Amino acid sequence: MTANLDVTGLEAMLTRLKLTAIRDQLDALLDEAARRDLNLREALTFLCEAEIARKDARRIRMGLSMAKFPAVRSLDGFDFEAQPSVDAKQVRELATSRWVANGDTVLLLGPPGVGKTHLAIALGREAIHRGHSVVFTHATHLVATLAKAHAAGVLEDKIRQLAKPRLLVVDELGYLPFEAEASHLFFQLVARRYERGAMLLTSNRSVGEWGHVFGDPVVATAILDRLLHHSHVLTIRGESYRLKAKRRSGLVETTRVLNATT
Ligand SMILES: Nc1ncnc2c1ncn2[C@@H]1O[C@H](COP(=O)(O)OP(=O)(O)OP(=O)(O)O)[C@@H](O)[C@H]1O
Ligand SMILES: [Mg+2]
Repeated sequence: MTANLDVTGLEAMLTRLKLTAIRDQLDALLDEAARRDLNLREALTFLCEAEIARKDARRIRMGLSMAKFPAVRSLDGFDFEAQPSVDAKQVRELATSRWVANGDTVLLLGPPGVGKTHLAIALGREAIHRGHSVVFTHATHLVATLAKAHAAGVLEDKIRQLAKPRLLVVDELGYLPFEAEASHLFFQLVARRYERGAMLLTSNRSVGEWGHVFGDPVVATAILDRLLHHSHVLTIRGESYRLKAKRRSGLVETTRVLNATT
């Protein structure tokens, strides 16, 4: 048996091939393969699986840290029964991330607290698990960043950077209306990503109200034209999950909530 003798040589080769999971767990993996009585092909498959599992875990960890999600939210944690206006089948289809691969747009629309950001993060995480790069940002932060880059004469660099991730999530579009300049900058980003990279936008405004959001109806039309071309629109209705949870715990009375919203 010559194979077992030169362990250092084998470790060096595994290092050179960057098969670090196999290298680090070599004895345990070989023992397990022997215990399961695997033939050579099965053993090789078993070793490759261990390597791929570690590489996938690392890729997902890095992808999640680069995405800068504001919180941890998952599809498993979304209560579809509490939100009947959300089509669970449509969300499950979106969770395959085919739309991300196609460079499509997803619009999540609805009033405060109905789960838009929750679903945006959850779908973003699904995309990362399927190997796509994702960046999450808030609309106001995004346009402030673009305006700063514009003022510094480096807008092109910024737009190129924001065009890179396979999916760009823009949360809370419409809570604060854009100035004319901000709308033009946002348009440039949308135009650059159009048919190249996927976007997911959340908004408390219906699409018909976006003229107000962008100030200028001409720019609003140009933005919407591109966003809606290959789009999946989810309109969520109903009351805020935050208030529902508070009411269940007795912190808010139904009448007070209703009064506050009228
Ligand atoms: N159907 C649901 N199942 C489980 N948790 C939910 C559901 N809907 C909302 N939540 C939770 O309620 C809170 C509010 O939801 P979220 O932040 O997604 O609302 P939103 O629609 O983005 O609101 P806003 O417009 O104010 O930003 C979050 O903690 C979210 O995880
Ligand atoms: Mg939100």
